[in-house]
Amino acid sequence: MSGILVFGNGWIGNKFIERYPEARMSTIMIEKLSDMADVLDREEPDAVINCAGLTGSPNVDWCETHQHETMMANTWLPIMMANECHKAGVHFTHLSSGCIFYGESPDPKGWLEFDYPNPAAYYSKTKAAADLVLADLPNVAIARLRIPMDPMPSPKNSITKITSYPKVIDVKNSVTVVEDLLSVMKQLADKRAEGAFHVVNPEPLAYRDLMDWYEEIVDPNHSNDWISEEEMVKSGLTAKKRSTNILQNTRLAEYGIHMRPTEEAMKDVLKQYAENLNREKSRNPQS
Ligand SMILES: NC(=O)c1ccc[n+]([C@@H]2O[C@H](COP(=O)([O-])OP(=O)(O)OC[C@H]3O[C@@H](n4cnc5c(N)ncnc54)[C@H](OP(=O)(O)O)[C@@H]3O)[C@@H](O)[C@H]2O)c1
Repeated sequence: MSGILVFGNGWIGNKFIERYPEARMSTIMIEKLSDMADVLDREEPDAVINCAGLTGSPNVDWCETHQHETMMANTWLPIMMANECHKAGVHFTHLSSGCIFYGESPDPKGWLEFDYPNPAAYYSKTKAAADLVLADLPNVAIARLRIPMDPMPSPKNSITKITSYPKVIDVKNSVTVVEDLLSVMKQLADKRAEGAFHVVNPEPLAYRDLMDWYEEIVDPNHSNDWISEEEMVKSGLTAKKRSTNILQNTRLAEYGIHMRPTEEAMKDVLKQYAENLNREKSRNPQS
């Protein structure tokens, strides 16, 4: 066999398979080295995309109190997968996160792909630890996404999350439109790209713009209050400060890969979100 084999039978992994049905999903839980070697022997893929990991439930604060599970899924698992892929001559793309960076970047335009991470939350530390050792390996690509924006309402979708908060932080952030992410993941694997990539739409998104567009395109009755990052932690809304940052997406172009301008991609995703929300409401008027 050949083609792309996906690990991580969760939110993003399944979106990838829906978009590229020719790719295959591995549903095996990888608990030891031989599990991974056996799957590669059996499936003989050209490329592996790792969407497996632990993001915490109901949110990332869970990882602060479940450190060993988080470390094994986000640090041990991708390192071990990369090693088994290397032995089998298979290209490895790993989904990481832009939240390994916190706050102001050394370059005023935003964090670069080679910058040294400064994670605060335990989840971010486990993602950063894997990135540090994977980023230099041949035949390995790291795709760092941030704040995924998707057309389908879901508790995992950042549009659903942010618009459900009565108080929203008044910041600018780099964001990832999921449709664009899926296309980038496929291209990184097909082109056997190497190193770390910031898979974010090019311009940072001000949450004030997001809310204006949401009210214009999805729900004119929506409203929210605004809160600063410091107030959010002080008031106990989150256990740890969330990573707010701006990432520069500079390396994808080396492989001829481009993502849509943020405003265009966001307005497109919000239109589809509105249609899907209306469809859900007409199917289930009580919701
Ligand atoms: N969603 C986001 O907002 C976001 C943002 C930035 C980066 N990312 C990264 O993107 C990746 C995918 O995120 P997601 O939202 O799709 O997560 P998800 O829905 O939780 O899916 C992750 C999947 O990985 C599986 N998994 C965990 N340990 C495994 C193992 N040892 N072997 C095989 N499968 C295993 C999980 O299985 P169980 O459910 O059975 O545990 C789950 O099905 C993660 O690495 C995450 O860090 C996500």
